[in-house]
Amino acid sequence: MKTRITELFGIEHPVIQGGMHYVGFAEMAAAVSNAGGLGIITGLTQRAPKDLANEIARCKDMTDKPIGVNLTFLPGFADPDYPGYIEAIVAQDVKIVETAGRSPEQYMPSLKEAGIKVIHKCTSVRHSLKAEKIGCDAVSVDGFECGGHPGEDDIPNMILLPRAAEELSIPFVGSGGMGNAKQLVAALALGADGINMGTRFIATKEAPVHQNVKDALVAASELDTTLIMRPLRNTERVLKNESVDRILEKEKSLGDDIKINDIMDEVAGVYPKIMTDGDMDAGAWSCGMVAGLIHDVPSCKELIDAMMKEADEIINSRLSQFAA
Ligand SMILES: Cc1cc2nc3c(=O)[nH]c(=O)nc-3n(C[C@H](O)[C@H](O)[C@H](O)COP(=O)(O)O)c2cc1C
Repeated sequence: MKTRITELFGIEHPVIQGGMHYVGFAEMAAAVSNAGGLGIITGLTQRAPKDLANEIARCKDMTDKPIGVNLTFLPGFADPDYPGYIEAIVAQDVKIVETAGRSPEQYMPSLKEAGIKVIHKCTSVRHSLKAEKIGCDAVSVDGFECGGHPGEDDIPNMILLPRAAEELSIPFVGSGGMGNAKQLVAALALGADGINMGTRFIATKEAPVHQNVKDALVAASELDTTLIMRPLRNTERVLKNESVDRILEKEKSLGDDIKINDIMDEVAGVYPKIMTDGDMDAGAWSCGMVAGLIHDVPSCKELIDAMMKEADEIINSRLSQFAA
């Protein structure tokens, strides 16, 4: 399938794997890119720029297709060495960067100078327009359904994507809640040029996470995620578990007085315990409502090939019957 996104990134299918902490290792990105999508390594999962350089090199040993790197600009705390990470990306000749968190404005000159295409992930039309204005090549529009940080506006993709289509000139993908061919075609119908998937790609054979995580996604329904950290204005959609219950209890009892330190044990440094060790109650971890649509653990190629085949059938058979 050809869209503005496949053309921009030189990929076969308009399907991107968004950066995911402790999931977006070389194996994940290579598997998605080898399947014709765009695989993305998560920059900050690598402790230092030199580790990111090694991870990119490892990925390049596994694929000769385009890959990207996610740079998440975290709210507050001490800033990671972003210039150092960008140097590593440039030195390893990666030509696509997915930015997220805050506006990448400060880093656009160095990214653009290196000929890097920037896709900024954001959760509102106003942030998408800002991204367009500062020279981003594309936007990943993340709706309220998404795993991770949906922002504070709570606009689902049924509204957010056509609103983005009304306003944006640059290409954009629909992100959040995406997991199958029907949703890919719907996203295209709503004006997007493709989709970005996070949660769905965790339940694949190649995802380098503990089997317990994949089993949890297959077992979960669309009712099993919830929002945490809303009182801190750092809302995150996570899979419900014991740790999340404790966070919600604290949010209830402390109300507006809650500070990040009050829930630190449940959110800081928990990803290796969950993703690597498979300790499913070790803390809160991002997970989208699309869990309700995940019923199997295919390879990335099986997943993407099946999606593209069904998308073709939907467009050419199911939808064409409605044409006057
Ligand atoms: C486990 C997990 C970790 C994530 N970590 C990051 C991250 O570090 N940086 C980022 O920009 N997005 C992160 N995301 C968001 C994804 O890139 C993507 O935008 C989101 O998952 C899309 O929604 P979906 O899960 O419904 O597909 C994460 C998502 C998940 C599920």
